[in-house]
Amino acid sequence: MLLELPRRTEIFGSVKIHEMQRVLKIDSGGFTNPRAKDIPFDVIKDVLKRFAIIVPVKDEKIHLLDGVLRAIPFDCTVIVVSNSKREAHDWYKLERNLVKNLHELAQQELIIVHQKDPDLGFALYEAGYDSLLDENSVVRDGKAEGMIIGMLLAKALGKEYIGFADADNYVPGSVREYVIDYAAGFCMAESPYSMVRLHWRYKPKVVADKLYFKKWGRVSETTNKYLNLLMSLHTGFETRILITGNAGEHALTTKLADVLSYSTGYSIEPYHFICLFDNFGPGVTEFVDLDAATAGIEIFQIETLNPHIHEEKGEIHIRNMLLDSLQTIYHSRLCTEYVRDKILEELGDMLEWEEPRQNRIMPSFAGVDALQFEEQLATTAESYARFQRGALEGEEASSSLSTSFEKESTRTI
Ligand code: GDD
Repeated sequence: MLLELPRRTEIFGSVKIHEMQRVLKIDSGGFTNPRAKDIPFDVIKDVLKRFAIIVPVKDEKIHLLDGVLRAIPFDCTVIVVSNSKREAHDWYKLERNLVKNLHELAQQELIIVHQKDPDLGFALYEAGYDSLLDENSVVRDGKAEGMIIGMLLAKALGKEYIGFADADNYVPGSVREYVIDYAAGFCMAESPYSMVRLHWRYKPKVVADKLYFKKWGRVSETTNKYLNLLMSLHTGFETRILITGNAGEHALTTKLADVLSYSTGYSIEPYHFICLFDNFGPGVTEFVDLDAATAGIEIFQIETLNPHIHEEKGEIHIRNMLLDSLQTIYHSRLCTEYVRDKILEELGDMLEWEEPRQNRIMPSFAGVDALQFEEQLATTAESYARFQRGALEGEEASSSLSTSFEKESTRTI
């Protein structure tokens, strides 16, 4: 891959944010030049082997999930964390069968688990990580909650890199590119605590019966504006470096995943920045992780070559995402009265209560014995299945779903 070098890097305490880099060639020819880095494919492949890609899914069209799973490079392990419906017309059965079929055809390593499996809740409780659980000891709804389960499993497998791909992507080829972009970003990193966030080149929409290649979405534009404002007011120098505040498509090293805490639902992505600013930003003297503070935390922002076409979930969903993002910024340590007033103005009628609410924060999972957590899931959880690389057709490492059920869901697809 030929990846543009970042022209500028903003240093904010121990956090280094690199300016957006464009993908110049997905497949390059080894030609080096001062403005770009050539990353040979065998180097990327070596990173992919140490990568887990987590696919959070909730009631998405099965064809979309199918395309996404088939597009993720073979060398990565795929972890599907589903919160899809299980009652009449069990959507999870279809998803699990899809995963099993893909494994039988391609021999890729895949894992699938259902977020609401009571044994998953119990395994988390036993592991001492109960902040994902509701009053019935079952994992709460939420994309972030699913992502954390996936990260614990990636950690159990000893993966060094963890990435995310939404299940509602209409263009499988773009998913393949996202994963390769992640790997290329990590090839440029100097710190073991790094993150790669993708910025879509375009997000096409139909406007007046024509395809319009939109560049910015309302939520990202607003989130980025306020995150940049936090930084600008703190340093006294205006910046617009940050363009990936809501990047659902992102990846991080497992070492960094262990250091971060996480915000619920869709606020997880903007909160990455807030967590880093609050714990490693300027003025912090007591670090949650001294090694990370010393090594520095690097953030790469890569503009994809492919446009992003996904399911549109409607106005209320967009509004809630915006509210979640701005609430996160509003309650951050760096937020000043001035920024708070601006946020309140921005939210206007959207805010149904007096003050933005504080999003639920889930602590770091560094202390969890991930291996033991996975072992417990494998032996107890009905929805959990791990299809290991090289296993014979039909064989799986651990699963308690019956064969008759598998056949039934194959027919439904
Ligand atoms: N496991 C799990 N649990 N998955 C979920 C849940 C849940 O409770 N809720 C949603 N998902 C899955 C969806 O099925 C999809 O695959 C992915 O999470 C993203 O959810 P969407 O509802 O499709 O989000 P979006 O497309 O509007 O927003 C995405 O892009 C934003 C940036 O533009 C998300 O990735 C956001 O987090 C991101 O900020």
